[in-house]
Amino acid sequence: MRALCISGSQVKKGNTTQLIDILIDNIESSNIPDLKIKKMSLSGLTLRPCKACEKCKKTGKCVIRDDFHKVIRRMHKSDLIIIGSPVYFHDVSGLVKNFIDRTFSLWHEKQLQGKKFIPIAVSAESGEERTLETLRIWAQVHEMKIVSSLSGHGHKPGDVSHDQKALAAVRDVIQDLIGEVKNTDS
Ligand SMILES: Cc1cc2nc3c(=O)[nH]c(=O)nc-3n(C[C@H](O)[C@H](O)[C@H](O)COP(=O)(O)O)c2cc1C
Repeated sequence: MRALCISGSQVKKGNTTQLIDILIDNIESSNIPDLKIKKMSLSGLTLRPCKACEKCKKTGKCVIRDDFHKVIRRMHKSDLIIIGSPVYFHDVSGLVKNFIDRTFSLWHEKQLQGKKFIPIAVSAESGEERTLETLRIWAQVHEMKIVSSLSGHGHKPGDVSHDQKALAAVRDVIQDLIGEVKNTDS
């Protein structure tokens, strides 16, 4: 299984990236066969907003030339996609919103259909449920398979690694993922 983990935080070693890293460590020790995990951060990439030209309706490709295509190339090669977002005003970060809007280009031909998906949200206090919902709806619209979801709390970078609830939830996500992989294989 090829997995792509995308962090939508501007803070490179912030809580979102740390929770993704904790999940990756746990996935790597879960004995899932033929596992290959790639990590990407949207921070530092040029990701312009969708300009609603709708040219992608005919071609299935976004006409804007920027780093979106780098992410998409990796997404196409992956069976499992994990997107983590910090909670900004009870929703995904602007980076993540720009990215998911641009995947309109993939929606017409359902290019992401059937891929497994795990959304992650990290807030200081609240808003993670709504953020996860945004990501889940995005995945549903693309007809992806939502395997599980994960959230955590942290204010200063690193706080989330002490969030015991989040660490317990990571173990639940791993069980869901192992169950899903078994289902797919049988
Ligand atoms: C613009 C902005 C908006 C935020 N909005 C919320 C919010 O609605 N609820 C909340 O609990 N935390 C909010 N936070 C705090 C972040 O979600 C929190 O610090 C999180 O750990 C950041 O993750 P990061 O370290 O990966 O950037 C906000 C932070 C910023 C910068």
